[in-house]
Amino acid sequence: MTSPVSSRLSPDGGAVIIIDQTLLPGEEKYLTLETAGEMYEAIYTLRVRGAPALGVFAGYAMAALCKKSGLSGKALTDFAAKTAEYLSSSRPTAVNLSRMAYRMAEKAKSLEALPAARAAEALRLEAEAIFTEDAETCRAIGENGLTLIKDGFTVMTYCNAGPLATSKYGTALSPLMLGLERGMHFRAYCFETRPLLQGARLTAWELYNAGAEVNVVCDNMAASLMSEGLIDAVFVGCDRVAKNGDAANKIGTHGLAIIAKRFGVPFYVFCPSTTVDLKCKTGRDIVIENRPGEEIGSLYFEKPVTPRGVGFYNPSFDVTPAELISAIVTEKGVFRYPYDMERILDK
Ligand code: MRU
Repeated sequence: MTSPVSSRLSPDGGAVIIIDQTLLPGEEKYLTLETAGEMYEAIYTLRVRGAPALGVFAGYAMAALCKKSGLSGKALTDFAAKTAEYLSSSRPTAVNLSRMAYRMAEKAKSLEALPAARAAEALRLEAEAIFTEDAETCRAIGENGLTLIKDGFTVMTYCNAGPLATSKYGTALSPLMLGLERGMHFRAYCFETRPLLQGARLTAWELYNAGAEVNVVCDNMAASLMSEGLIDAVFVGCDRVAKNGDAANKIGTHGLAIIAKRFGVPFYVFCPSTTVDLKCKTGRDIVIENRPGEEIGSLYFEKPVTPRGVGFYNPSFDVTPAELISAIVTEKGVFRYPYDMERILDK
């Protein structure tokens, strides 16, 4: 079974249809989002999530909202710019979201001479181009990643960097997905990924459906598994890569990289070039999203588990320093430390 597409335009182009990732794998529910507020809420609550998938969603959201506005000319340009700013403010770390929202706003500006209907059609085509480019890119990432593993490998992965987090194949999961399609066998250890359990719910579901042998493990089991020599490689995605190769990904990734270094397990980061942000010189320039404490204390429990009155600290991402990353894999190839992401983008 293949993973569902995380977002697409409605048949009339005036809304975005998503699969609600917060309900997976128990329930496959599709939502039709018509307003900017509904779209913001869907991003913020992680109904749609994963850096490249947020970029694809931003493309569709901008196309749908611009079409529904019925605007043209300078009014459309202003509307698109404001909408891009609003949607981008929903989650600050994954650069693909703002990059694609502003790509659509720029496209709208270039269409000022056209009547509303023709501008809307051109924006629809731009959004579809973002989807197609991402699908092709993820496939190329998978081909490059396959050079790092062999049939029968055991791979550890964190959070969800699979098809649901992109348009197809995923980033970190793409080599595994391609290999499985070709009859290879892999064992995967999926970390639960507290507090929102993207690993236990989404990655385990995707890899199991694709035919991998899947074991879900708690986030505190990494050192034990690696020390037993059970792991051939760690594969993770990322939300933003700085110019020097520091990579922001789901909170906990940094710790995993430290443990992998300690036990000599290769630690690979996968991303499309669209996740590289040269404006961030190092990881210190990457804005880290802070999320509500209820996600830690009560969201996935029948009753709150913590004593009343305690506080929470819930940063959603951390930054893995470049020197802990064995290679960064993009659609352009496999790149080893030290990283100059500007040169890598030029290839
Ligand atoms: O908070 P999330 O679920 O959006 O976090 C997602 C991740 O950290 C992924 O690893 C990252 O976006 C890469 S997705 C290909």
